[in-house]
Amino acid sequence: MTEEQKPELPEGKHIRRIKSYVKREGRMTKGQARAMEEYWPTMGLTHEQGMIDMAEVFGRSAPVVLEIGFGMGKSLVEMAAAEQDKNFIGVEVHGPGVGACLLSAEEQNVKNLRVYEHDAVEVLADCIPDESLDRVQLYFPDPWHKKRHHKRRIVQPEFIEAIRKKLKPGGLFHMATDWEHYAEHMLVEMNEAPGFTNTAEQDFVPRPDFRPLTKFEARGQRLGHGVWDLIFARSE
Ligand SMILES: C[S@@+](CC[C@H](N)C(=O)[O-])C[C@H]1O[C@@H](n2cnc3c(N)ncnc32)[C@H](O)[C@@H]1O
Repeated sequence: MTEEQKPELPEGKHIRRIKSYVKREGRMTKGQARAMEEYWPTMGLTHEQGMIDMAEVFGRSAPVVLEIGFGMGKSLVEMAAAEQDKNFIGVEVHGPGVGACLLSAEEQNVKNLRVYEHDAVEVLADCIPDESLDRVQLYFPDPWHKKRHHKRRIVQPEFIEAIRKKLKPGGLFHMATDWEHYAEHMLVEMNEAPGFTNTAEQDFVPRPDFRPLTKFEARGQRLGHGVWDLIFARSE
Protein backbone atom coordinates (compact mmCIF):
# COMPACT_ATOMS: atom_id res chain seq x y z
CA MET A 1 0.00 0.00 0.00
CA THR A 2 1.43 3.39 -0.92
CA GLU A 3 1.62 6.24 1.59
CA GLU A 4 -1.13 8.03 -0.32
CA GLN A 5 -3.55 5.08 -0.12
CA LYS A 6 -2.96 4.38 3.53
CA PRO A 7 -6.23 4.84 5.40
CA GLU A 8 -6.09 7.21 8.34
CA LEU A 9 -8.31 6.81 11.32
CA PRO A 10 -9.29 10.10 12.95
CA GLU A 11 -12.05 9.53 15.47
CA GLY A 12 -12.51 5.97 14.31
CA LYS A 13 -13.38 6.89 10.73
CA HIS A 14 -11.69 5.48 7.64
CA ILE A 15 -10.80 8.20 5.19
CA ARG A 16 -8.46 8.37 2.27
CA ARG A 17 -6.90 11.75 1.84
CA ILE A 18 -5.11 12.83 -1.32
CA LYS A 19 -1.91 14.60 -0.37
CA SER A 20 -1.00 18.02 -1.79
CA TYR A 21 2.66 17.02 -2.09
CA VAL A 22 4.94 14.22 -3.13
CA LYS A 23 7.70 13.68 -0.63
CA ARG A 24 10.88 14.75 -2.42
CA GLU A 25 14.16 13.05 -1.85
CA GLY A 26 16.98 15.32 -0.92
CA ARG A 27 19.75 15.55 1.59
CA MET A 28 20.56 18.37 3.87
CA THR A 29 23.74 20.33 3.44
CA LYS A 30 26.16 20.24 6.36
CA GLY A 31 25.06 23.72 7.43
CA GLN A 32 21.37 22.75 7.36
CA ALA A 33 22.06 19.57 9.34
CA ARG A 34 24.00 21.53 11.95
CA ALA A 35 21.22 24.13 12.20
CA MET A 36 18.72 21.27 12.71
CA GLU A 37 20.81 19.79 15.48
CA GLU A 38 21.32 23.11 17.25
CA TYR A 39 17.99 24.82 16.74
CA TRP A 40 15.39 22.07 16.44
CA PRO A 41 15.24 21.64 20.25
CA THR A 42 14.09 25.26 20.68
CA MET A 43 12.39 25.98 17.35
CA GLY A 44 10.97 22.60 16.33
CA LEU A 45 7.41 21.51 17.05
CA THR A 46 6.11 18.01 16.38
CA HIS A 47 2.72 16.67 15.39
CA GLU A 48 2.99 14.19 18.27
CA GLN A 49 2.96 17.08 20.76
CA GLY A 50 -0.70 17.59 19.89
CA MET A 51 -2.59 20.81 20.57
CA ILE A 52 -0.25 23.66 21.47
CA ASP A 53 -0.61 26.64 23.76
CA MET A 54 0.69 29.65 21.80
CA ALA A 55 1.76 31.70 24.84
CA GLU A 56 3.63 28.71 26.25
CA VAL A 57 5.34 27.85 22.95
CA PHE A 58 6.58 31.41 22.36
CA GLY A 59 6.93 32.50 25.97
CA ARG A 60 4.72 35.51 25.28
CA SER A 61 1.31 36.47 23.96
CA ALA A 62 1.45 38.12 20.54
CA PRO A 63 -0.41 37.89 17.23
CA VAL A 64 0.33 34.59 15.47
CA VAL A 65 1.06 34.13 11.75
CA LEU A 66 1.14 30.61 10.30
CA GLU A 67 2.76 29.85 6.93
CA ILE A 68 1.97 26.66 5.03
CA GLY A 69 4.61 25.19 2.69
CA PHE A 70 7.42 27.67 3.32
CA GLY A 71 9.88 25.92 0.96
CA MET A 72 13.38 26.93 2.08
CA GLY A 73 11.90 29.48 4.48
CA LYS A 74 13.69 32.51 3.06
CA SER A 75 10.70 34.82 2.94
CA LEU A 76 9.25 33.41 6.17
CA VAL A 77 12.45 34.23 8.09
CA GLU A 78 12.59 37.66 6.48
CA MET A 79 9.04 38.33 7.61
CA ALA A 80 9.68 37.07 11.13
CA ALA A 81 12.73 39.35 11.34
CA ALA A 82 10.73 42.32 10.03
CA GLU A 83 7.67 41.76 12.26
CA GLN A 84 9.22 41.08 15.66
CA ASP A 85 5.98 41.94 17.41
CA LYS A 86 4.39 38.77 15.98
CA ASN A 87 4.91 35.05 16.56
CA PHE A 88 5.47 32.98 13.41
CA ILE A 89 4.85 29.28 12.81
CA GLY A 90 6.03 27.60 9.60
CA VAL A 91 4.86 24.20 8.36
CA GLU A 92 6.74 22.33 5.64
CA VAL A 93 7.03 18.64 4.71
CA HIS A 94 10.41 18.91 2.97
CA GLY A 95 13.18 18.15 5.49
CA PRO A 96 16.03 20.04 3.79
CA GLY A 97 13.69 23.06 3.53
CA VAL A 98 13.18 22.96 7.29
CA GLY A 99 16.96 22.74 7.77
CA ALA A 100 17.48 25.70 5.42
CA CYS A 101 14.84 27.70 7.30
CA LEU A 102 16.53 27.10 10.66
CA LEU A 103 19.88 28.05 9.15
CA SER A 104 18.44 31.36 7.86
CA ALA A 105 16.79 31.95 11.25
CA GLU A 106 20.17 31.50 12.91
CA GLU A 107 21.87 33.88 10.46
CA GLN A 108 19.24 36.55 11.08
CA ASN A 109 19.02 35.90 14.82
CA VAL A 110 15.27 35.26 14.56
CA LYS A 111 13.68 34.11 17.81
CA ASN A 112 9.95 34.55 17.10
CA LEU A 113 9.64 31.51 14.82
CA ARG A 114 8.70 27.86 15.38
CA VAL A 115 8.53 25.18 12.70
CA TYR A 116 6.84 21.86 11.97
CA GLU A 117 8.20 19.27 9.56
CA HIS A 118 4.82 17.73 8.86
CA ASP A 119 1.73 17.86 6.64
CA ALA A 120 0.02 21.19 7.28
CA VAL A 121 -3.45 19.65 6.98
CA GLU A 122 -2.73 17.41 9.97
CA VAL A 123 -0.97 20.15 11.91
CA LEU A 124 -4.00 22.42 11.48
CA ALA A 125 -6.40 19.71 12.62
CA ASP A 126 -4.42 18.33 15.55
CA CYS A 127 -2.07 21.03 16.83
CA ILE A 128 -3.48 24.51 16.23
CA PRO A 129 -6.25 25.71 18.57
CA ASP A 130 -9.41 27.17 17.02
CA GLU A 131 -9.47 30.98 16.70
CA SER A 132 -5.76 31.29 17.52
CA LEU A 133 -4.31 32.70 14.28
CA ASP A 134 -4.18 36.30 13.09
CA ARG A 135 -2.92 35.44 9.62
CA VAL A 136 -2.43 32.32 7.53
CA GLN A 137 -0.17 32.55 4.51
CA LEU A 138 0.10 30.20 1.57
CA TYR A 139 2.66 31.39 -0.95
CA PHE A 140 3.15 29.73 -4.30
CA PRO A 141 1.58 26.38 -3.41
CA ASP A 142 2.31 23.52 -5.82
CA PRO A 143 0.03 24.37 -8.77
CA TRP A 144 -0.50 20.78 -9.99
CA HIS A 145 -0.83 21.93 -13.59
CA LYS A 146 -2.42 18.84 -15.15
CA LYS A 147 -6.17 18.59 -14.92
CA ARG A 148 -6.04 15.04 -13.57
CA HIS A 149 -3.87 16.34 -10.72
CA HIS A 150 -6.14 19.25 -9.74
CA LYS A 151 -7.53 17.20 -6.87
CA ARG A 152 -4.08 17.45 -5.29
CA ARG A 153 -4.27 21.22 -5.03
CA ILE A 154 -4.24 22.19 -1.38
CA VAL A 155 -6.87 24.89 -1.83
CA GLN A 156 -10.10 22.87 -1.56
CA PRO A 157 -13.30 23.52 0.40
CA GLU A 158 -12.31 21.36 3.41
CA PHE A 159 -8.91 23.03 3.63
CA ILE A 160 -10.46 26.51 3.47
CA GLU A 161 -12.92 25.58 6.23
CA ALA A 162 -10.06 24.20 8.37
CA ILE A 163 -8.26 27.53 7.98
CA ARG A 164 -11.40 29.53 8.78
CA LYS A 165 -11.82 27.70 12.07
CA LYS A 166 -8.22 28.37 13.12
CA LEU A 167 -8.32 32.08 12.27
CA LYS A 168 -9.53 34.59 14.82
CA PRO A 169 -12.63 36.45 13.64
CA GLY A 170 -11.29 39.15 11.31
CA GLY A 171 -8.07 37.15 10.77
CA LEU A 172 -6.58 37.07 7.28
CA PHE A 173 -5.96 34.26 4.82
CA HIS A 174 -3.32 35.42 2.33
CA MET A 175 -2.48 33.43 -0.80
CA ALA A 176 -0.15 34.16 -3.67
CA THR A 177 0.47 32.28 -6.89
CA ASP A 178 2.20 32.86 -10.21
CA TRP A 179 -0.11 30.44 -11.99
CA GLU A 180 -3.15 32.24 -13.37
CA HIS A 181 -5.39 29.17 -13.46
CA TYR A 182 -4.62 28.42 -9.84
CA ALA A 183 -5.33 32.07 -8.94
CA GLU A 184 -8.75 31.73 -10.59
CA HIS A 185 -9.34 28.44 -8.80
CA MET A 186 -8.44 30.08 -5.45
CA LEU A 187 -10.80 32.95 -6.16
CA VAL A 188 -13.72 30.70 -7.09
CA GLU A 189 -13.23 28.46 -4.04
CA MET A 190 -12.83 31.41 -1.65
CA ASN A 191 -15.88 33.23 -3.03
CA GLU A 192 -17.93 30.08 -2.55
CA ALA A 193 -16.59 29.31 0.92
CA PRO A 194 -18.80 30.44 3.78
CA GLY A 195 -17.45 32.81 6.42
CA PHE A 196 -14.91 34.77 4.37
CA THR A 197 -14.95 38.25 2.83
CA ASN A 198 -12.59 39.35 0.08
CA THR A 199 -10.53 42.37 1.21
CA ALA A 200 -9.81 43.29 -2.42
CA GLU A 201 -11.83 45.93 -4.19
CA GLN A 202 -12.02 43.51 -7.05
CA ASP A 203 -10.74 39.94 -6.90
CA PHE A 204 -6.99 40.42 -6.26
CA VAL A 205 -4.86 42.75 -4.13
CA PRO A 206 -1.47 44.25 -4.99
CA ARG A 207 1.41 42.47 -3.21
CA PRO A 208 1.30 43.79 0.37
CA ASP A 209 4.56 45.25 1.71
CA PHE A 210 4.80 42.51 4.33
CA ARG A 211 5.23 39.80 1.68
CA PRO A 212 8.85 39.96 0.50
CA LEU A 213 9.50 39.87 -3.23
CA THR A 214 11.41 36.67 -3.98
CA LYS A 215 14.27 36.47 -6.48
CA PHE A 216 12.17 34.14 -8.59
CA GLU A 217 9.26 36.56 -8.53
CA ALA A 218 11.45 39.56 -9.41
CA ARG A 219 12.79 37.62 -12.39
CA GLY A 220 9.22 36.72 -13.40
CA GLN A 221 8.21 40.37 -13.16
CA ARG A 222 11.06 41.37 -15.51
CA LEU A 223 9.84 38.74 -17.95
CA GLY A 224 6.32 40.09 -17.69
CA HIS A 225 4.89 37.12 -15.75
CA GLY A 226 2.06 37.77 -13.35
CA VAL A 227 1.65 37.08 -9.64
CA TRP A 228 -1.74 37.12 -8.00
CA ASP A 229 -2.28 37.91 -4.30
CA LEU A 230 -5.59 37.16 -2.56
CA ILE A 231 -6.41 38.30 0.97
CA PHE A 232 -9.66 37.15 2.52
CA ALA A 233 -10.80 37.97 6.06
CA ARG A 234 -12.72 35.63 8.33
CA SER A 235 -16.16 37.20 8.67
CA GLU A 236 -18.04 34.48 10.57
C1 LIG B 1 6.05 25.38 -4.90
S1 LIG B 1 6.70 25.27 -3.27
C2 LIG B 1 6.69 26.96 -2.71
C3 LIG B 1 7.58 27.20 -1.54
C4 LIG B 1 7.59 28.61 -0.95
N1 LIG B 1 6.31 28.95 -0.35
C5 LIG B 1 8.00 29.65 -1.95
O1 LIG B 1 7.20 30.54 -2.25
O2 LIG B 1 9.15 29.57 -2.44
C6 LIG B 1 5.37 24.53 -2.34
C7 LIG B 1 5.83 23.97 -1.02
O3 LIG B 1 4.72 23.50 -0.27
C8 LIG B 1 5.09 22.32 0.42
N2 LIG B 1 3.85 21.60 0.74
C9 LIG B 1 2.94 21.09 -0.13
N3 LIG B 1 1.92 20.53 0.52
C10 LIG B 1 2.17 20.68 1.85
C11 LIG B 1 1.48 20.30 3.02
N4 LIG B 1 0.31 19.65 2.96
N5 LIG B 1 2.03 20.59 4.21
C12 LIG B 1 3.22 21.26 4.29
N6 LIG B 1 3.92 21.66 3.21
C13 LIG B 1 3.40 21.37 2.01
C14 LIG B 1 6.02 21.62 -0.53
O4 LIG B 1 6.88 20.70 0.12
C15 LIG B 1 6.78 22.79 -1.14
O5 LIG B 1 7.96 23.08 -0.43
